[in-house]
Amino acid sequence: MQTVESVADMQNLSRAAHRSGRTIALVPTMGYLHDGHASLLRGGRRRGDLLVLSIFVNPTQFGVGEDFESYPRDLARDRAVAESAGVDVIFAPRAGDMYPAGFQTYVDVERLTLPLCGASRPGHFRGVTTVVSKLLNIVQPDVALFGAKDYQQLAVIRRMVADLNMPVEVVGMPIVREADGLALSSRNAYLSPEQRQAALCLSHSLRTAKELYKAGERTVATLREQVTTTIAAEASATIDYIEFRHGDSLEEVAVANGHTLIALAVKIGTTRLIDNCLLGEE
Ligand code: PAF
Repeated sequence: MQTVESVADMQNLSRAAHRSGRTIALVPTMGYLHDGHASLLRGGRRRGDLLVLSIFVNPTQFGVGEDFESYPRDLARDRAVAESAGVDVIFAPRAGDMYPAGFQTYVDVERLTLPLCGASRPGHFRGVTTVVSKLLNIVQPDVALFGAKDYQQLAVIRRMVADLNMPVEVVGMPIVREADGLALSSRNAYLSPEQRQAALCLSHSLRTAKELYKAGERTVATLREQVTTTIAAEASATIDYIEFRHGDSLEEVAVANGHTLIALAVKIGTTRLIDNCLLGEE
Protein backbone atom coordinates (compact mmCIF):
# COMPACT_ATOMS: atom_id res chain seq x y z
CA MET A 1 0.00 0.00 0.00
CA GLN A 2 1.33 3.41 -0.89
CA THR A 3 0.33 6.89 0.23
CA VAL A 4 0.21 9.64 -2.37
CA GLU A 5 -0.14 13.30 -1.43
CA SER A 6 0.55 15.05 -4.70
CA VAL A 7 -2.25 15.53 -7.23
CA ALA A 8 0.18 15.10 -10.14
CA ASP A 9 1.57 11.82 -8.70
CA MET A 10 -1.96 10.46 -8.27
CA GLN A 11 -2.86 11.39 -11.85
CA ASN A 12 0.30 9.71 -13.16
CA LEU A 13 -0.39 6.58 -11.14
CA SER A 14 -3.97 6.39 -12.45
CA ARG A 15 -2.84 6.93 -16.04
CA ALA A 16 -0.28 4.13 -15.69
CA ALA A 17 -2.93 1.79 -14.24
CA HIS A 18 -5.31 2.47 -17.14
CA ARG A 19 -2.51 2.07 -19.70
CA SER A 20 -1.76 -1.37 -18.31
CA GLY A 21 -5.46 -2.28 -18.61
CA ARG A 22 -6.23 -2.16 -14.88
CA THR A 23 -9.54 -0.81 -13.58
CA ILE A 24 -9.67 1.63 -10.68
CA ALA A 25 -12.15 1.70 -7.79
CA LEU A 26 -12.29 4.83 -5.63
CA VAL A 27 -13.70 5.18 -2.11
CA PRO A 28 -13.78 8.89 -1.25
CA THR A 29 -13.76 9.60 2.51
CA MET A 30 -12.92 12.25 5.04
CA GLY A 31 -11.03 9.67 7.09
CA TYR A 32 -11.56 8.50 10.66
CA LEU A 33 -12.60 5.22 9.12
CA HIS A 34 -15.20 2.92 10.67
CA ASP A 35 -16.84 -0.34 9.58
CA GLY A 36 -19.11 1.55 7.17
CA HIS A 37 -16.01 2.70 5.29
CA ALA A 38 -14.58 -0.82 5.55
CA SER A 39 -17.67 -2.13 3.78
CA LEU A 40 -17.19 0.46 1.00
CA LEU A 41 -13.57 -0.65 0.71
CA ARG A 42 -14.58 -4.31 0.49
CA GLY A 43 -17.04 -3.35 -2.26
CA GLY A 44 -14.28 -1.44 -4.04
CA ARG A 45 -11.85 -4.34 -3.68
CA ARG A 46 -14.33 -6.60 -5.50
CA ARG A 47 -14.90 -4.09 -8.29
CA GLY A 48 -11.50 -2.66 -9.21
CA ASP A 49 -7.98 -3.94 -9.87
CA LEU A 50 -6.50 -0.89 -8.15
CA LEU A 51 -8.31 0.20 -4.98
CA VAL A 52 -7.83 3.87 -4.12
CA LEU A 53 -8.98 5.35 -0.81
CA SER A 54 -9.04 9.12 -0.68
CA ILE A 55 -8.82 10.84 2.69
CA PHE A 56 -9.48 14.55 2.65
CA VAL A 57 -11.41 16.61 5.19
CA ASN A 58 -12.93 18.95 2.67
CA PRO A 59 -13.20 22.51 4.01
CA THR A 60 -15.71 23.69 1.38
CA GLN A 61 -18.47 21.37 2.58
CA PHE A 62 -18.43 22.74 6.14
CA GLY A 63 -20.41 25.86 6.97
CA VAL A 64 -19.38 28.65 9.29
CA GLY A 65 -19.56 27.42 12.90
CA GLU A 66 -19.59 23.73 11.82
CA ASP A 67 -17.05 21.15 12.94
CA PHE A 68 -14.34 21.42 10.27
CA GLU A 69 -11.59 22.17 12.81
CA SER A 70 -12.68 19.51 15.30
CA TYR A 71 -13.62 16.82 12.73
CA PRO A 72 -11.87 13.65 14.01
CA ARG A 73 -8.63 12.82 12.23
CA ASP A 74 -6.33 9.81 12.76
CA LEU A 75 -4.26 8.96 9.71
CA ALA A 76 -2.24 6.26 11.48
CA ARG A 77 -5.40 4.37 12.43
CA ASP A 78 -6.89 4.94 8.95
CA ARG A 79 -3.75 3.44 7.41
CA ALA A 80 -4.19 0.26 9.47
CA VAL A 81 -7.88 -0.07 8.47
CA ALA A 82 -6.96 0.57 4.82
CA GLU A 83 -4.16 -1.99 4.88
CA SER A 84 -6.42 -4.73 6.21
CA ALA A 85 -9.12 -3.86 3.65
CA GLY A 86 -6.65 -4.40 0.81
CA VAL A 87 -6.29 -0.75 -0.26
CA ASP A 88 -3.53 -0.22 -2.84
CA VAL A 89 -3.26 3.56 -2.70
CA ILE A 90 -4.23 6.13 -0.08
CA PHE A 91 -4.66 9.49 -1.76
CA ALA A 92 -4.38 12.13 0.96
CA PRO A 93 -3.96 15.49 -0.73
CA ARG A 94 -3.10 18.72 1.08
CA ALA A 95 -5.80 21.39 1.25
CA GLY A 96 -3.52 23.89 -0.50
CA ASP A 97 -3.17 21.53 -3.49
CA MET A 98 -6.91 20.88 -3.74
CA TYR A 99 -7.80 24.56 -3.32
CA PRO A 100 -4.81 26.60 -4.47
CA ALA A 101 -4.79 30.39 -4.33
CA GLY A 102 -7.16 31.78 -6.96
CA PHE A 103 -9.53 28.79 -6.84
CA GLN A 104 -13.00 29.87 -8.01
CA THR A 105 -14.73 27.01 -9.83
CA TYR A 106 -17.57 25.07 -8.19
CA VAL A 107 -20.00 22.36 -9.24
CA ASP A 108 -23.62 22.89 -8.24
CA VAL A 109 -26.51 20.44 -8.56
CA GLU A 110 -29.63 22.59 -8.39
CA ARG A 111 -32.95 21.11 -7.23
CA LEU A 112 -31.88 17.92 -5.45
CA THR A 113 -29.70 19.95 -3.09
CA LEU A 114 -32.49 22.30 -1.94
CA PRO A 115 -34.31 20.21 0.73
CA LEU A 116 -33.11 18.18 3.72
CA CYS A 117 -29.40 18.70 4.50
CA GLY A 118 -29.20 21.27 1.70
CA ALA A 119 -31.71 23.44 3.55
CA SER A 120 -30.06 22.96 6.96
CA ARG A 121 -26.50 23.32 5.69
CA PRO A 122 -26.41 25.96 2.93
CA GLY A 123 -23.44 25.46 0.60
CA HIS A 124 -22.72 21.97 1.91
CA PHE A 125 -23.56 20.10 -1.28
CA ARG A 126 -21.73 22.60 -3.47
CA GLY A 127 -18.63 21.71 -1.46
CA VAL A 128 -19.34 17.98 -1.79
CA THR A 129 -19.98 18.00 -5.54
CA THR A 130 -16.96 20.21 -6.16
CA VAL A 131 -14.56 18.02 -4.21
CA VAL A 132 -16.03 14.78 -5.60
CA SER A 133 -15.66 16.15 -9.15
CA LYS A 134 -12.05 17.00 -8.40
CA LEU A 135 -11.37 13.56 -6.92
CA LEU A 136 -12.97 11.88 -9.95
CA ASN A 137 -10.87 14.05 -12.28
CA ILE A 138 -7.68 13.26 -10.39
CA VAL A 139 -8.16 9.53 -9.71
CA GLN A 140 -10.09 8.73 -12.94
CA PRO A 141 -11.84 5.72 -11.38
CA ASP A 142 -14.04 3.29 -13.29
CA VAL A 143 -16.21 2.93 -10.22
CA ALA A 144 -16.71 5.08 -7.10
CA LEU A 145 -18.47 3.91 -3.96
CA PHE A 146 -20.53 5.95 -1.49
CA GLY A 147 -22.57 5.00 1.57
CA ALA A 148 -26.37 5.19 1.66
CA LYS A 149 -26.35 6.80 5.12
CA ASP A 150 -25.74 10.05 3.23
CA TYR A 151 -28.75 9.27 1.04
CA GLN A 152 -29.12 12.78 -0.38
CA GLN A 153 -25.38 13.01 -1.06
CA LEU A 154 -25.54 9.76 -3.02
CA ALA A 155 -28.56 11.02 -5.03
CA VAL A 156 -26.82 14.34 -5.74
CA ILE A 157 -23.60 12.63 -6.86
CA ARG A 158 -25.51 10.26 -9.15
CA ARG A 159 -27.28 13.29 -10.69
CA MET A 160 -24.01 15.17 -11.17
CA VAL A 161 -22.30 12.18 -12.77
CA ALA A 162 -25.23 11.67 -15.17
CA ASP A 163 -25.66 15.37 -15.97
CA LEU A 164 -21.95 15.98 -16.63
CA ASN A 165 -21.38 12.67 -18.49
CA MET A 166 -18.67 11.63 -16.09
CA PRO A 167 -17.31 8.23 -17.15
CA VAL A 168 -17.66 6.52 -13.78
CA GLU A 169 -20.10 4.04 -12.28
CA VAL A 170 -21.49 5.25 -8.94
CA VAL A 171 -22.22 2.43 -6.50
CA GLY A 172 -24.31 3.01 -3.36
CA MET A 173 -23.60 0.69 -0.43
CA PRO A 174 -26.09 -0.10 2.37
CA ILE A 175 -25.94 1.62 5.76
CA VAL A 176 -23.83 -0.27 8.29
CA ARG A 177 -25.27 -0.29 11.83
CA GLU A 178 -24.08 -1.31 15.28
CA ALA A 179 -25.86 -4.35 16.73
CA ASP A 180 -28.28 -2.02 18.55
CA GLY A 181 -29.17 -0.12 15.37
CA LEU A 182 -26.98 3.00 15.58
CA ALA A 183 -25.84 3.94 12.07
CA LEU A 184 -22.04 4.15 11.90
CA SER A 185 -20.67 7.66 11.50
CA SER A 186 -17.34 9.33 12.21
CA ARG A 187 -19.31 11.90 14.23
CA ASN A 188 -20.43 9.17 16.69
CA ALA A 189 -16.98 9.78 18.20
CA TYR A 190 -18.34 13.05 19.63
CA LEU A 191 -21.01 11.25 21.72
CA SER A 192 -20.67 10.55 25.45
CA PRO A 193 -21.91 7.08 26.54
CA GLU A 194 -25.26 8.63 27.60
CA GLN A 195 -25.59 10.51 24.32
CA ARG A 196 -24.75 7.36 22.36
CA GLN A 197 -27.64 5.65 24.13
CA ALA A 198 -29.91 8.63 23.37
CA ALA A 199 -28.85 8.53 19.70
CA LEU A 200 -30.62 5.18 19.32
CA CYS A 201 -33.87 7.18 19.05
CA LEU A 202 -33.07 7.79 15.37
CA SER A 203 -32.91 4.14 14.31
CA HIS A 204 -35.72 3.20 16.73
CA SER A 205 -38.00 5.80 15.18
CA LEU A 206 -37.28 4.48 11.68
CA ARG A 207 -37.99 0.94 12.84
CA THR A 208 -41.33 1.88 14.40
CA ALA A 209 -42.36 3.71 11.21
CA LYS A 210 -41.43 0.66 9.14
CA GLU A 211 -43.50 -1.57 11.42
CA LEU A 212 -46.51 0.73 11.07
CA TYR A 213 -46.01 0.76 7.29
CA LYS A 214 -45.83 -3.04 7.24
CA ALA A 215 -49.04 -3.15 9.24
CA GLY A 216 -50.73 -1.18 6.45
CA GLU A 217 -50.36 2.48 7.43
CA ARG A 218 -49.80 4.68 4.37
CA THR A 219 -50.63 8.18 5.62
CA VAL A 220 -47.43 10.17 5.99
CA ALA A 221 -48.92 12.45 8.69
CA THR A 222 -49.53 9.41 10.90
CA LEU A 223 -46.12 7.87 10.21
CA ARG A 224 -44.44 11.22 10.86
CA GLU A 225 -46.22 11.58 14.18
CA GLN A 226 -44.89 8.18 15.25
CA VAL A 227 -41.32 9.11 14.29
CA THR A 228 -41.59 12.53 15.98
CA THR A 229 -42.98 11.06 19.20
CA THR A 230 -40.19 8.47 19.40
CA ILE A 231 -37.46 11.08 18.92
CA ALA A 232 -39.06 13.78 21.07
CA ALA A 233 -39.22 11.32 23.99
CA GLU A 234 -35.43 11.64 24.19
CA ALA A 235 -34.60 14.71 26.28
CA SER A 236 -31.22 15.43 24.65
CA ALA A 237 -32.61 15.21 21.09
CA THR A 238 -33.37 18.30 19.00
CA ILE A 239 -35.07 17.59 15.69
CA ASP A 240 -33.57 19.36 12.68
CA TYR A 241 -35.85 17.60 10.18
CA ILE A 242 -38.04 14.53 9.79
CA GLU A 243 -38.99 14.23 6.14
CA PHE A 244 -40.88 11.79 3.95
CA ARG A 245 -39.71 12.05 0.37
CA HIS A 246 -39.81 10.19 -2.92
CA GLY A 247 -36.73 7.94 -3.00
CA ASP A 248 -35.49 9.29 -6.36
CA SER A 249 -36.78 12.83 -6.85
CA LEU A 250 -36.67 13.71 -3.12
CA GLU A 251 -40.05 15.45 -3.63
CA GLU A 252 -42.29 15.50 -0.55
CA VAL A 253 -44.99 12.82 -0.41
CA ALA A 254 -48.24 12.64 1.54
CA VAL A 255 -48.95 8.96 0.90
CA ALA A 256 -46.20 6.42 1.51
CA ASN A 257 -45.13 3.50 -0.64
CA GLY A 258 -42.16 1.11 -0.64
CA HIS A 259 -39.91 3.69 -2.29
CA THR A 260 -40.65 6.44 0.24
CA LEU A 261 -37.56 7.73 2.00
CA ILE A 262 -37.69 8.72 5.64
CA ALA A 263 -34.78 11.08 6.23
CA LEU A 264 -33.83 12.32 9.69
CA ALA A 265 -31.40 14.89 11.02
CA VAL A 266 -31.34 15.14 14.79
CA LYS A 267 -28.96 16.82 17.18
CA ILE A 268 -27.98 14.81 20.23
CA GLY A 269 -26.49 17.47 22.46
CA THR A 270 -24.42 19.43 19.95
CA THR A 271 -23.76 16.47 17.60
CA ARG A 272 -25.86 16.46 14.44
CA LEU A 273 -26.64 12.93 13.26
CA ILE A 274 -28.47 11.77 10.16
CA ASP A 275 -30.17 8.48 9.36
CA ASN A 276 -32.67 7.21 6.81
CA CYS A 277 -34.54 4.25 5.42
CA LEU A 278 -36.70 3.34 2.47
CA LEU A 279 -40.02 2.08 3.79
CA GLY A 280 -40.10 -0.97 1.54
CA GLU A 281 -36.61 -2.17 2.41
CA GLU A 282 -36.08 -4.99 4.89
O1 PAF B 1 -19.22 11.36 2.63
C1 PAF B 1 -18.11 11.90 2.82
O2 PAF B 1 -17.28 11.42 3.60
C2 PAF B 1 -17.78 13.20 2.08
O3 PAF B 1 -18.90 13.99 1.94
C3 PAF B 1 -17.10 12.95 0.72
C4 PAF B 1 -18.01 12.22 -0.25
C5 PAF B 1 -15.83 12.15 0.92
C6 PAF B 1 -16.72 14.29 0.08
O4 PAF B 1 -15.86 15.02 0.89
